[in-house]
Amino acid sequence: MAELKRFLVPWFDQIKPYDTDDLLMAWSRPELKRMMVNENPIPPSEKVLQAVIEAAKLGNRYPDSGPRIRAKIAKRYDLGPENVFISHGSSEIIDMIMRLFVSPGDEVLLPNPTFSLYGIRTRAVGGQVVAVDMTSDLQYDIPAMLRAVTPRTKVIIICTPNNPTGDFIPDDDLMKIVELGIPTLIDEAYLEYHPEHESKAPLIRKYNHLIVAHTFSKAYGMAGIRFGYALADETLIGYFRKIQIPWNTSLLSMAAAEAALDEEEELKRKAAYNNAGVDYVFKELSKIPGVTPYYSHGNYVLIDATDTGATGKEIVDYVFENAGVILKHFAPLRGRNGFFRISLGTHEENSICVHAIKKFLENRKKEKRT
Ligand SMILES: Cc1ncc(COP(=O)(O)O)c(C=O)c1O
Repeated sequence: MAELKRFLVPWFDQIKPYDTDDLLMAWSRPELKRMMVNENPIPPSEKVLQAVIEAAKLGNRYPDSGPRIRAKIAKRYDLGPENVFISHGSSEIIDMIMRLFVSPGDEVLLPNPTFSLYGIRTRAVGGQVVAVDMTSDLQYDIPAMLRAVTPRTKVIIICTPNNPTGDFIPDDDLMKIVELGIPTLIDEAYLEYHPEHESKAPLIRKYNHLIVAHTFSKAYGMAGIRFGYALADETLIGYFRKIQIPWNTSLLSMAAAEAALDEEEELKRKAAYNNAGVDYVFKELSKIPGVTPYYSHGNYVLIDATDTGATGKEIVDYVFENAGVILKHFAPLRGRNGFFRISLGTHEENSICVHAIKKFLENRKKEKRT
């Protein structure tokens, strides 16, 4: 047997992969309620399915770089197709940014908490994650982020609305980061749930170090189909092309995305369904003493139950065992260990989940009294 470690890039031994155990379990037990990875509970439309079937008929051919869909996307932002790079979900964009800008020992500055993949892909290229805790009300701590910038900062991540905290970064805070002139990802994965908030895409005309990323995995509801895109200055898109794996987006995913782009009413319907779910969960959980839900503009709600005395993990475990709902708990933040996140499901699933949480906390109260 070869001693593989001798050949492995030195930092790889320490790397933990993105945890997909919950997905493995959810696929093998379809009766479980998947409220842990910010999926959309509504399946693709008939039109999307038909488009995929038509595309599959040409499945013997390699795809091109998607000039038609790039033009369609560009038009929405009043940009050109040369400003659009299409990808295998926006995770690929995150990975490409790290491969483009981060050498071993370089730093990537991001908020804590945020989407864990940024850190994982940073470490995969030997980079150092510099995670700056959000403020106690879970807003970007911009002074602390600015203080954390060093000559080795090669990438800054701004996720807006942020996963899992749910809020947008205010414009003046964003501009303080943008003006640093350091390559910055503005991840707008959840923006389509709130189109009244304008995309930051127009900034790429003035700032050639910005990348605005979008995905079809969330409001469009195509996480399993895998399609995303980046908007950036033409030169930066040119760098993406240099390191991309050719044919990164399949004919099927391009066709699905193109069909979904044409169905504006369907997108609105999905967003409205989700947002009603967010309102319901937020309202119901706000009523419980000691429970603080954070209002979210995404398809998830972060909750801090520390003041009930329960940990996030205890709640997540109870809801799983008693209601078959998979949630996600979070590492302690600012000394508080009651954080967990609900990814919105169907209205029925949301209700089952809320009731299970209430039941857990009621039982706990009773136990304390006896
Ligand atoms: C903020 C954020 N960006 C990107 C992604 C990745 O999405 P995709 O499915 O497009 O790779 C996620 C997934 O949860 C996310 O939360």
